[in-house]
Amino acid sequence: MSVSYRSDAAEAPAWPDIPVMPALADGWAIERMSALDLQAVAEIEARAYSHPWTRGNFENSIKAGHMGLTLRDPSGTLVAYAVLMPVVDEMHLLNITVEPRRQRQGLGRLMLAVVLATSHTHHLHTVLLEVRPSNTGALALYLEAGFVEIGRRKGYYPAFGKAREDALVLRRAWPGGEGAA
Ligand SMILES: CC(C)(COP(=O)(O)OP(=O)(O)OC[C@H]1O[C@@H](n2cnc3c(N)ncnc32)[C@H](O)[C@@H]1OP(=O)(O)O)[C@@H](O)C(=O)NCCC(=O)NCCS
Repeated sequence: MSVSYRSDAAEAPAWPDIPVMPALADGWAIERMSALDLQAVAEIEARAYSHPWTRGNFENSIKAGHMGLTLRDPSGTLVAYAVLMPVVDEMHLLNITVEPRRQRQGLGRLMLAVVLATSHTHHLHTVLLEVRPSNTGALALYLEAGFVEIGRRKGYYPAFGKAREDALVLRRAWPGGEGAA
């Protein structure tokens, strides 16, 4: 498959079978999310979702040892983030978000590639995530990246009013071991 990130943040290969950390363009930076990022992250989150995580959710997540990653553009502005939770031999992608005004510029693709490569670096060769079936943009991105649907959780997400929405469970796995790093 040959897909570039179509972003000025990185020159991109496609989705290699064994994930590789994308080389960022000058001035772009991936860092661990810290307490100093929580305000900016929570503000983006509130604008990006109908049912956002709160600042406290992010704080608790980091305290619980989950791995937050941020992407900053050359001006230092936080434009995207992800939260990962290692569970035994799998990585769970709990959150991936691009600042709404910066969406559809390849940054989601870049962030997802960073997530896969980070998981690989931690010797976890399976990434699991949940997505709303109505989130067709995110779903298209995950399928492009090689994720496959492995299940459905009934009424997993809150929806409007008292309604609930199912979650699709997606997984991407790749071979680990020597020579695959
Ligand atoms: C999902 C999300 C992370 C994607 O980030 P992004 O920077 O907009 O995505 P990209 O520009 O890298 O798009 C990559 C591909 O995904 C698909 N895609 C992304 N957004 C899409 C949309 N709104 N509609 C249709 N396809 C979309 C397209 O195939 C796109 O490729 P193309 O632009 O070459 O057609 C971003 O839209 C977002 O933060 N959404 C709100 C939060 C969210 O829903 N997170 C996922 C929860 S499971």
